[in-house]
Amino acid sequence: MLLLNPGPVTLSERVRRSLLQPDLCHRESEFFALQDEIRTRLLTTYDLDPKVWTAVLMTGSGTAAVESMTAALVPAKGRLLNLENGVYGDRIAQMCSQYGIGHERVIGSWMEPLDLKAISARLAEGQFTHIAVVHHETTTGRLNDLEPLSKLCRERGLGLLVDGVSSFGAEDIDFADESLHAVAATANKCLHGVPGASFVIARRTALAQAAKRTYYLDLGRLARMQDERNTPFTPAVHAYYGLVEALREFADEGGRGARFKRYAALAEQVRAGLAALGINPVVPPEQSSVVLRSYSLPAGTPYSKLHDALKAEGFVIYAGQGDLSKTLFRISTMGAVTSADMNRLLKCFAQRV
Ligand SMILES: Cc1ncc(COP(=O)(O)O)c(C=O)c1O
Repeated sequence: MLLLNPGPVTLSERVRRSLLQPDLCHRESEFFALQDEIRTRLLTTYDLDPKVWTAVLMTGSGTAAVESMTAALVPAKGRLLNLENGVYGDRIAQMCSQYGIGHERVIGSWMEPLDLKAISARLAEGQFTHIAVVHHETTTGRLNDLEPLSKLCRERGLGLLVDGVSSFGAEDIDFADESLHAVAATANKCLHGVPGASFVIARRTALAQAAKRTYYLDLGRLARMQDERNTPFTPAVHAYYGLVEALREFADEGGRGARFKRYAALAEQVRAGLAALGINPVVPPEQSSVVLRSYSLPAGTPYSKLHDALKAEGFVIYAGQGDLSKTLFRISTMGAVTSADMNRLLKCFAQRV
């Protein structure tokens, strides 16, 4: 079965085999070597200076990393402007409410780019310390442009917090931008690891002021203990085995630039093939990520029928979220999938639709 949902991804044999390594106690030096290698390799993914940035690992899915970042990096007296054009932006607002973090929301249409005028106006009205944004809003496949948001942050001395769960490892992120405080992400999307490990790439100066709102997900404590070759709790050791192997494979395959190119080619192949069948993208390709695209459901074909027909041929596609399930479906081209696989997928579409 090939997974074309936005994670967990289809594993390479190399990563799958890495899960069968010896049982490992997380209080032994072998575990700390594994943890250190993952943290170093995560920084290398974007050529980051370890004096400026640190990679903080945790056990949990992408939501854990986003929650850990948001709860730690907005100080007690801070105020966050949360930018939303999909499910994952909405989720950050829910986290803020749950932890009592001062915040306001700019809620945009799920079908539109973020409204920069509305964001500037809101910033001018209120006293904010941070902006949070989802880089790749997986709800629709839209890639939110970070550059103008960084500019607004720089002009006002704000920190930018990024949910990079479905973009880290493939899409460009400008870590040289001084307003960028942190990016939260996960092992089992663009990095091609298994579910269970996630991480925050945090600017050390921002981390030094981390708030203590959470217990298990306390980013400051996780960072401190990992710097001391330690860990507060029992990590998902096998997910870490998978992540380190996935990161080695990532480097062997040419790093982030190569991954971007591979995804871009696969996404374009699928787009062109579906367009020939009259199935069109919902978000213009130039506003989309290379990771995932949303397409209009063919008239008269409910999602469940399309899903089941393709599953019978060995492909798992993905529904739209909420009401969008009635109008669109999603195809992600992350993971160990090839151009030949996409040709086969397109043939199945041609026969079934
Ligand atoms: C942008 C984004 N943020 C957060 C999440 C949540 O990640 P998880 O389901 O791993 O908790 C996802 C999942 O697809 C996502 O795409």
